[in-house]
Amino acid sequence: MGATVISPTYLSAYLLLLCLVCSLKEGYAKGRRATVAESHHLEHSHTIQVSSLLPSSICSPATKVLDKKSSLQVVHKHGPCSQLYHHDKANIPTHAEILLQDVARVKSIHSKLAKSLGSTKVDQTDAANIPAKDGSVVGSGNYVVTVGLGTPKKDLTLIFDTGSDITWTQCQPCVGTCYKQQDPVFAPSLSSTYSNISCSSTTCNSLASATGNTPGCSSSACVYGIQYGDSSFSVGIFAKEKLTLTSTDVFDDFLFGCGQNNQGLFGGAAGLIGLGRDKLSLPSQTASKYKKYFSYCLPSSASSTGFLSFGYGGVSKFVKFTTLTTLSQGASFYGIDIVGISVGGKKLPISASVFTAGGAIIDSGTVITRLPPTAYTALSSEFRKLMSRYPKAQPLSILDTCYDFTKFSSVSVPKISIFFSGGVEVPIAAKGILYVNAISQVCLAFAGNTDDTEVGIFGNTQQKTLQVVYDGVGGKLGFATGGCT
Ligand SMILES: *[C@@H]1O[C@H](CO)[C@@H](O)[C@H](O)[C@H]1NC(C)=O
Repeated sequence: MGATVISPTYLSAYLLLLCLVCSLKEGYAKGRRATVAESHHLEHSHTIQVSSLLPSSICSPATKVLDKKSSLQVVHKHGPCSQLYHHDKANIPTHAEILLQDVARVKSIHSKLAKSLGSTKVDQTDAANIPAKDGSVVGSGNYVVTVGLGTPKKDLTLIFDTGSDITWTQCQPCVGTCYKQQDPVFAPSLSSTYSNISCSSTTCNSLASATGNTPGCSSSACVYGIQYGDSSFSVGIFAKEKLTLTSTDVFDDFLFGCGQNNQGLFGGAAGLIGLGRDKLSLPSQTASKYKKYFSYCLPSSASSTGFLSFGYGGVSKFVKFTTLTTLSQGASFYGIDIVGISVGGKKLPISASVFTAGGAIIDSGTVITRLPPTAYTALSSEFRKLMSRYPKAQPLSILDTCYDFTKFSSVSVPKISIFFSGGVEVPIAAKGILYVNAISQVCLAFAGNTDDTEVGIFGNTQQKTLQVVYDGVGGKLGFATGGCT
C-alpha cells in the first residue's frame, strides 16, 4: 500500500484522538468522541446529507486563505461566486450541455494525441478558414480567475486551462466578432505598454508549436489563431503587454493574443490563460520568477472559492509527488501515470497494462475523469455493488451509473482513491465522486474512454478540494487533500 496524502484535517483528528486517549487514561473523559474520530478515518464510505448535494445560490467564499501574495481567487464560471454568473444567469448551460462540451474537449485531446500536428495557415480576414480540427482543446473550461492587463491596468476574468498554452483576450476593435463578455473588451489603444509582435520575429514563429497553426501576417503584425475542438476559436494580433497577476507580481512584455475574431463556449469570460508546458504558456513566460511552479485548488462547489497560486509559497507540507511524463504528440500536456483505483477501501484488480496502454494526463478543463474502459468497468461494477441499496436512475449523457436519492435524507457513498506512480494515493473528495443533475439523478462522476489505448484524463470534478501542485522544472505533480473547501 502506498503513502496516503494526509490532510491537515486528518492530522487534527489524530491529535484530537491522541489527546482524548491520554485524558481517558487519566480518567477525565469517556472514549465516545475518540471512537467517532477513529471510525471517521477508518470508514470506507462518505456519509453525505442529501440536501448538501443541491447547489447553493449564495457565494460562501473559502475562509481558509493562503498566506501568500501571489494567489488569485478561483471560482466556478457558472456559480454564484462568479461575476459571469450574475451577468448572464439566463445562459448557464444545463448539465447535459456541460457534459456534451466535455465530450468535445476530450475528443479533441484524443485526436491531438493520436495524430501528428497538422499545420494550418492563419488568415485573419477569414477565420472560417480555420477548420475545427485537432489543433487544440476546447476552451470551455469551468474555472476562472481575474488578472490585470495593460497600463493603466484593466481587470479581465479568464478561464484557466492546463490543457493549452496561449493566453488570449478579446480585443477592440473586434475586427471580426467578439462574443458577449462580462468585462469591458480590452482596448490596446488605451494602454501605454501595448505593442504588436512583428511577423518576421522568431517570437511570432513560436506560435506554431503553441497553437498548432502557422502564424499569419497583417501589415507586418504577427497573427495567431487557435481553434478548439467544438468550433470555438480565437484569431487576432499576437502582442505583448504588462500583465498584473497581483500587486507584487507584475510582468512586462507578456506575450498574449489580442483576439479580433472570437467565437465559442467561453461563457462570458474575456478569454483564456494557458497554463500548459509550451514555451509561450504563462508558467514558461514567468519561469524566471516562479520556476514553472504553480498550484491551485478547485472549490468543492460553485458556491465556494479556491485559489491559483504561482511560485513555491503556500504549498501544503503534506503534498505527495508523482512524476510528470511527456506525451510524444502532446508535449504541452501534463502527463501522469495512473497505476490503480480503490473503491470502498478495496483495490480493484486491474492489470497495470490497462493503464499504460494509453497513458494519462491531468487537465483542469476536462470535467469528468476518463479511464480506460477496462478500468472504468471494474470501478463502476464495484461501485454499483456497494450502492445496491439505492434505486437506480436514468444515465446522464456519458454518466451511466446514476441513483435516485429522493427518498433519503443521507446517503453512504463508497470512498474512491486514485493511485499514481511513486506510491501516491489520492483520495477523491465526496464532491468529486458524484455528479448531481437533480436529487433524483445523482451519478458516479467517472466515464470510460472508447478504447484502452486512448489517453486517460484526470478531470476537474475529481480534483475538487485537492491542492494540485505543478512543478514544471522538477518534473513533478503533487497532491494534498483539504486544499480548499
Ligand atoms: C498592430 O497591428 C494591427 C494590425 O496590423 C494594427 O491595426 C494596429 O494599429 C497595430 N497596433 C500598434 C500599436 O502598432
